[in-house]
Amino acid sequence: MSGRVVLITGAKGGLGSFVTQRFLATGATVVGASRSIAPEDFPVPNFAALPVDFTKAAAVDRAIGSIIDRYGRLDVLVHVLGGFAGGASVAETDDATWEQMRDLNLTSAFYVLRAAIPHLRKSAAERIVAIGSLTALEPHAGLGAYLTFKSALVSLVRTVALENKDAGLTANVVLPGTMDTPANRKAMPRADFSKWLKPADAADLVLWLADERAAHITETLIPIDGANP
Ligand SMILES: NC(=O)c1ccc[n+]([C@@H]2O[C@H](COP(=O)([O-])OP(=O)(O)OC[C@H]3O[C@@H](n4cnc5c(N)ncnc54)[C@H](OP(=O)(O)O)[C@@H]3O)[C@@H](O)[C@H]2O)c1
Repeated sequence: MSGRVVLITGAKGGLGSFVTQRFLATGATVVGASRSIAPEDFPVPNFAALPVDFTKAAAVDRAIGSIIDRYGRLDVLVHVLGGFAGGASVAETDDATWEQMRDLNLTSAFYVLRAAIPHLRKSAAERIVAIGSLTALEPHAGLGAYLTFKSALVSLVRTVALENKDAGLTANVVLPGTMDTPANRKAMPRADFSKWLKPADAADLVLWLADERAAHITETLIPIDGANP
């Protein structure tokens, strides 16, 4: 990955921090983005912090422009950013929850893909990896807003894969099960954490999809889960 410029959204979250560490270890130039990210979050020379709210179209356009201004290229986009809300049936879901799930899980992806694709297409090793959710493959009561937009994310990324095959741009979606993150431990303190997917394992898969060896893998959905029965 040395010499490549990689943008990671949601870079300091439960999964994003592992993905960021993995790419940094390859020697790639890693631009880590979230609203509150700072250089101190990953204090190594090949890391750059890009504070941006991905639910704002103009801010996303400016952020991608700043990467091109600084490095002159963008080779890999890893769109980790997403958000979860559950517990309400569709009939009980309020506007704020619906809009938050839409903005975090779908609109953010649209904005960053739209801004990044023209630059990715110019790279010789261009890759898009997005993070969906294993849960969103099937309907689940109480998760209507979350899984509606995670499912739509899959359609969006697969469409991008089709539209950009001509340029050799690959686009794939990783579908993690429940991960062993600090937030999940706090939310489900009685669960058996050993059965959850380790974020490091999901990060390895993301890195592999960005590697030379995955040059011919595109438009796929790859489930990855822990030791759940
Ligand atoms: N955790 C799980 O068990 C699980 C299971 C399946 C799928 N997933 C998916 O995996 C991905 C990562 O999940 P996670 O649990 O690791 O997430 P997380 O810990 O909640 O991290 C989310 C990250 O996104 C950033 N963020 C939030 N809103 C933002 C915005 N408007 N603009 C820019 N950045 C924003 C946050 O940083 P700031 O606060 O600094 O913005 C944070 O770094 C998500 O797509 C999630 O849906 C998670």
